[in-house]
Amino acid sequence: MAALTGCLVLQSWFRILFVFAILHGPVQAEENDAFHRLDDSYKFVTRPDIEAPRFNVTVYERRSVSPGYWFIPSYDFLDQSVQNGGRWTAPHIFDSNGGLIWSGSYLSRQYDAFDFRLSNVLGEDMLSFLYPRNRSAILLDTSYNIRHVVPIAEEGKSVDMHEFHLVDNGTRALLFYDQRRNATQEQSRAIGYMNGNCSVNDNLFHELDVADGFEPTFTWSSAEHVGLYESSKVENSLQERCSEYWDFIHVNSLDKFPDGSYLMSSRHTDTIYKIAPSGEIVWRLGGVVSDFRANFKFARQHNARIISSNETHTTLSFFDNATRTPMREATADSSRGVIVELHTSPQRMVARLVQEFVHPDGPGNYCVARANVQVLPNGNVWICWVDGLLSTEHTPDGLLIMKARVKQDWLKSYRTYKFNFVGKPSAPPDVQSHAIGSDEDNTTTTLVHVSWNGATEVNSWNLYKTDDIGNIDSPEPVTASPRMGFETTLSYKGFASYVVAEATDRHGAVLGRSEVIKTIVSARLSTATIAQESQWLDRMNRRTGPTRQAIWLVNMIYVNPTVTFASGLFCGMTLLVVSRALWRAKWKGLLSRRRNGSFYKQLPQCDDYFEKP
Ligand SMILES: *[C@@H]1O[C@H](CO)[C@@H](O)[C@H](O)[C@H]1NC(C)=O
Ligand SMILES: *[C@@H]1O[C@H](CO)[C@@H](O)[C@H](O)[C@H]1NC(C)=O
Ligand SMILES: *[C@@H]1O[C@H](CO)[C@@H](O)[C@H](O)[C@H]1NC(C)=O
Ligand SMILES: *[C@@H]1O[C@H](CO)[C@@H](O)[C@H](O)[C@H]1NC(C)=O
Ligand SMILES: *[C@@H]1O[C@H](CO)[C@@H](O)[C@H](O)[C@H]1NC(C)=O
Ligand SMILES: *[C@@H]1O[C@H](CO)[C@@H](O)[C@H](O)[C@H]1NC(C)=O
Ligand SMILES: *[C@@H]1O[C@H](CO)[C@@H](O)[C@H](O)[C@H]1NC(C)=O
Ligand SMILES: *[C@@H]1O[C@H](CO)[C@@H](O)[C@H](O)[C@H]1NC(C)=O
Repeated sequence: MAALTGCLVLQSWFRILFVFAILHGPVQAEENDAFHRLDDSYKFVTRPDIEAPRFNVTVYERRSVSPGYWFIPSYDFLDQSVQNGGRWTAPHIFDSNGGLIWSGSYLSRQYDAFDFRLSNVLGEDMLSFLYPRNRSAILLDTSYNIRHVVPIAEEGKSVDMHEFHLVDNGTRALLFYDQRRNATQEQSRAIGYMNGNCSVNDNLFHELDVADGFEPTFTWSSAEHVGLYESSKVENSLQERCSEYWDFIHVNSLDKFPDGSYLMSSRHTDTIYKIAPSGEIVWRLGGVVSDFRANFKFARQHNARIISSNETHTTLSFFDNATRTPMREATADSSRGVIVELHTSPQRMVARLVQEFVHPDGPGNYCVARANVQVLPNGNVWICWVDGLLSTEHTPDGLLIMKARVKQDWLKSYRTYKFNFVGKPSAPPDVQSHAIGSDEDNTTTTLVHVSWNGATEVNSWNLYKTDDIGNIDSPEPVTASPRMGFETTLSYKGFASYVVAEATDRHGAVLGRSEVIKTIVSARLSTATIAQESQWLDRMNRRTGPTRQAIWLVNMIYVNPTVTFASGLFCGMTLLVVSRALWRAKWKGLLSRRRNGSFYKQLPQCDDYFEKP
């Protein structure tokens, strides 16, 4: 009688658990709902925590498009002090058709990620991004394990989200930070401020030693080197600016020359600076005191990068916003990416526009803010235009060959990039299995959804019918399907109470397998189906020990109302069987034999495949 009561308690327990699982799904968004709604997005059965933007991709010349994946950290709100974003506020990787490969929403939790890209960290490929919420830069390996969490700002200090840039072959990282300070009296007088010392927001940068725990090895301060007179951020009166921590320079990108100098771009002086290792400014391109004679102009530029450099020549790429607020005369017909060549010999400082990459929507289109330009390994150029995640690829001579954007202009990315890499997640694939019975012809279909967040190499999926510890009847999959996108649906004509999904690459080698997944019974199955499956499990069971009968029955209890009723009576007996089995196991060491019979022993291991040349 006590056994029966125990059993009924167990039954209701499982029912509660079952209903809970259906209502809540495996992962819950931690934060409140976003203000925006993304009506056209990727959603998945296997990953309810993911909601990723869906792109409209236009390819104008497919054979010219370079191979690689898009790295796009999308956000709703730059300032998240009042409101965090939706589930699409996350670092993402997409394939070249806009198909989702990875969402980091489980890491970023609806808080902004910036400068998400592939970085060389001491010779190893890693994914890196800035995560202001935690005041850190996050580095993941290509199996998506967190490898470094680098603190980037002290408590109470603002986080600079512009740059986390690995340089010097992955041995150094460049990073900005901000600090309020008073300019010197001399600097203040130079702009006619007589009322004490002008207060400014100073932008500084650190160079961090990667191998030495990301300790700073070099620090540089804008306020100590750049004159306040260089600023074009002058909408307010001098008195207002100087009493409210004037954002006089607003740096927004940093790169390093092979000779150890730095290339820094600053938005509020419209200037690109070369800074020597001693800290001295070597030259200025643009702004009120440019050192170059140039055949082009630019304004409110972003993301200056060194393409090549020697003693006499430097080639740069950057994004030219071409206008600024308050509106002045535009420096170009639209915002654009540019490549410029500089002659840097002291006798002849000349700058020449080599190539421009114009806005895909044509003249008159200017970016609201931000954006970046990336020269790809084959010379193609990738550009992020911010609003609606608009990203384009161009041939080296400026031809537009690909355009991708989402419908919602409010969905933005500061920068986007394109990289080639191989992602092999260390977490197993995600699987959801549902059995659906048909009353009309007594058939049952087991519908299985599979996905593997971050896996780049999956070509197809195999499905195995197993018992609850992964035993199988035959090594042949019950069904298989080519990968159909982030999530693939496999349909097995029959009832499998447990399944294992297996991912294979394009050579057929096994990349990984899911855990043993219990099938959720979505619609009532016939008693015949249940009986048949129970017989099969029973057979598997007998092969591997009578303890299995007990486990199986408990699992079946909440699958079918008939079984539930019958199980009530059967429960007491099962408990007896369990105790008998445990008694036997104690003497015969059955538990170890049970492990020998498992699926993972019957099929070759993944490692066996990987060791093939
Ligand atoms: C997708 O982009 C193309 C080219 O810009 C455009 O013609 C088309 O209307 C867009 N489709 C949708 C659904 O927005
Ligand atoms: C951010 O901080 C929270 C709280 O300390 C922590 O649980 C979480 O793992 C951190 N996230 C990342 C991506 O490092
Ligand atoms: C970069 O580092 C890798 C190993 O970390 C090394 O093999 C390579 O020679 C380095 N390249 C340069 C230019 O220093
Ligand atoms: C700047 O100087 C004023 C006095 O003129 C002082 O009150 C303020 O704290 C100083 N700010 C900083 C950041 O040192
Ligand atoms: C203003 O700057 C000068 C240095 O140029 C410094 O000696 C002085 O103490 C500063 N005054 C204030 C009020 O911060
Ligand atoms: C420097 O680079 C330019 C092209 O960018 C090239 O014409 C020149 O010959 C190079 N100079 C040296 C010394 O290598
Ligand atoms: C770029 O130009 C637009 C249009 O004039 C302007 O609204 C925006 O503020 C500019 N961007 C920056 C960073 O100043
Ligand atoms: C379905 O199975 C039940 C019993 O297992 C049987 O009575 C019934 O005739 C079957 N229906 C069909 C359409 O085969």
